[in-house]
Amino acid sequence: MKQDLIAVVGATGKTGRRVLTSLQEQGCQVRALSRTSKIPFDWENRETWKPALTDIHSVYVTYYPDLAVPEAQNDIQAFVDLAQSMGVNHLVLLSGRGEQGAQNAEQVVINSTLEWNIVRASWFMQNFSESFMLEGIQAGQLVLPEHMALEPFIDVDDIADVVVAALTRDELRNQVLEVTGPELLSFAQCVDVTAEMLQRDIQLLTVPIESYLEGAEAQGMPADIAWLINELFVNVLDGRNESTTNTIETILQRPAKTFKDYAQDTAATGVWS
Ligand SMILES: NC(=O)c1ccc[n+]([C@@H]2O[C@H](COP(=O)([O-])OP(=O)(O)OC[C@H]3O[C@@H](n4cnc5c(N)ncnc54)[C@H](OP(=O)(O)O)[C@@H]3O)[C@@H](O)[C@H]2O)c1
Repeated sequence: MKQDLIAVVGATGKTGRRVLTSLQEQGCQVRALSRTSKIPFDWENRETWKPALTDIHSVYVTYYPDLAVPEAQNDIQAFVDLAQSMGVNHLVLLSGRGEQGAQNAEQVVINSTLEWNIVRASWFMQNFSESFMLEGIQAGQLVLPEHMALEPFIDVDDIADVVVAALTRDELRNQVLEVTGPELLSFAQCVDVTAEMLQRDIQLLTVPIESYLEGAEAQGMPADIAWLINELFVNVLDGRNESTTNTIETILQRPAKTFKDYAQDTAATGVWS
């Protein structure tokens, strides 16, 4: 039934996978969407969007690769326009803190006629285990661009729980839910906690952004991801996000997960071995 069907865009990704599972466990009717889903959805092929949104009541949107990229605002505008014209009721957008591109996309959603939520998140802890920092941790040497700021890294499990609350609790509608982890940490502190948990040495090497990008591109990093790394390390990690929020406690009635808890749980999975 249309009233019950919730679409998850990016359903195999870090947050989408968790949101999908949690909704299924609660007995919600869900439609997984990504390039590889039964009904395929591709941000780069707008012909796939209409079948993906047919009969959908609510939709959780993760944009790929990141709302910071220049084409994101146009894509989100076109997606929102289509959702409105197809009778979608509610859209929850995953956004990033302190990114101009993300803020532009947020405004598109907020100014639409849809019911909406923005879940505006800090850096994911899972970037160390499910993304571009995984290989470095496995190899025992993580190379990153030089940066100054501390970051309130958040566990993606907490983001997924807030997204599910936004999708299923009417009283949360039409709000920006800004979510962070409980403490400000440096990348070096995260690496130290991880090394301690694994009981082995992990070296953190920071290099000028130019050398980092040269090395990464030589190893095959796609140009759009290289652009994104530059944007995040140079323009976003400048101190603007050095604060925490209590949104997790307020919405979920429990504390946000610490990096130590995340590292302990992740070490136990064996992914860093
Ligand atoms: N990482 C962070 O620290 C951070 C912090 C704040 C906000 N964010 C936001 O998080 C969002 C990403 O969410 P996520 O981390 O949950 O996802 P993710 O792990 O990056 O997963 C990407 C998902 O998108 C799908 N995908 C890849 N290319 C696609 C395409 N061209 N069209 C349609 N789907 C595509 C993938 O599945 P298939 O391969 O099957 O298509 C997968 O399901 C970004 O918009 C970013 O702004 C990230």
